[in-house]
Amino acid sequence: MRLILLGPPGAGKGTQAQRLVERYGIVQLSTGDMLREAVAAGTEIGLKAKDLMARGELVPDEVVVQIISDRIEQPDARLGFVLDGFPRNIPQAEALETMLEQKGLRLDAVVELRVDEGILLSRIEKRAGETVGGPRADDNAEALAKRLVVYRAQTAPLVEHFEGKGLLRTVDGMAPMDEVSRQIEAALAAETLSARG
Ligand code: AP5
Repeated sequence: MRLILLGPPGAGKGTQAQRLVERYGIVQLSTGDMLREAVAAGTEIGLKAKDLMARGELVPDEVVVQIISDRIEQPDARLGFVLDGFPRNIPQAEALETMLEQKGLRLDAVVELRVDEGILLSRIEKRAGETVGGPRADDNAEALAKRLVVYRAQTAPLVEHFEGKGLLRTVDGMAPMDEVSRQIEAALAAETLSARG
C-alpha cells in the first residue's frame, strides 16, 4: 500500500499516518519529521531548512525530493509507505510520479483530510503544549498563518491534481480521531482488496 496524506497544518496527517503504519504494516515518511531531525542534528540539510521551517515557508523542492527518493529505496519501505507532508506542490508531485515510475512502483491512493481552517490554531496550540522535547518552532500563530498561506497557494492545488488521476479519497478531518481513521479505512477498502487480489 502506497499512500499520500494531504491536508493543511494541524489537519491530523501525522496522527493518522501513525495509525496507518500499525494497520497496514507500512512505514511513515514524514518530510517534516525528517527535516526536524536534520535541524536537531545540525546537518547541512538542517542548516538550510531551519529558518525556512520556523517561518512556515517551504524548504527547496530538490532537498525534499532527494530525501524521499533515498528513503523509498530503504528495505523497510518495500511493503509500502504513507507520505505525510510530501508532496507539497505540483513540482514535488510530478517529481514523485517520475520517481515512482522509474522505480516501478504505483501509488494506491491520496487521502485528503478536509478541515475548517478555524480549528487549526487551537489544535496547533494544544500540540505545542504536548510535544516531547518542547514546542515546534513553527507552532505559533504567526508561523501558522504563513503555513496556511503556503498551503492554499501551493499545496491545495494537489487536490485537483490527484482527483484528475482518480486517486483522491476525501474524509472529514473535523470528526473525532477514531472516526477519521474509520473513514480512511473505509476509503481504502477497495485498494486493500485489489492489492491482495
Ligand atoms: P510538517 O511537519 O509536514 O507540518 P504540517 O504540514 O504543517 O503539519 P503538522 O505536522 O503541523 O500537522 P498534521 O497534519 O501532521 O497534524 P497532527 O496529526 O500533528 O511541515 C513542517 C515544515 O517543514 C513546513 O512548514 C516546511 O517548512 C517543511 N516541510 C515539510 N515537508 C516539506 C515539503 N514536502 N516541501 C517543503 N518543505 C517541507 O495533529 C495536530 C494536532 O491536532 C495534534 O495535537 C493532534 O493530537 C490533534 N488532532 C489530530 N487529529 C484530530 C482530530 N480528528 N480531532 C481533534 N484533534 C486532532
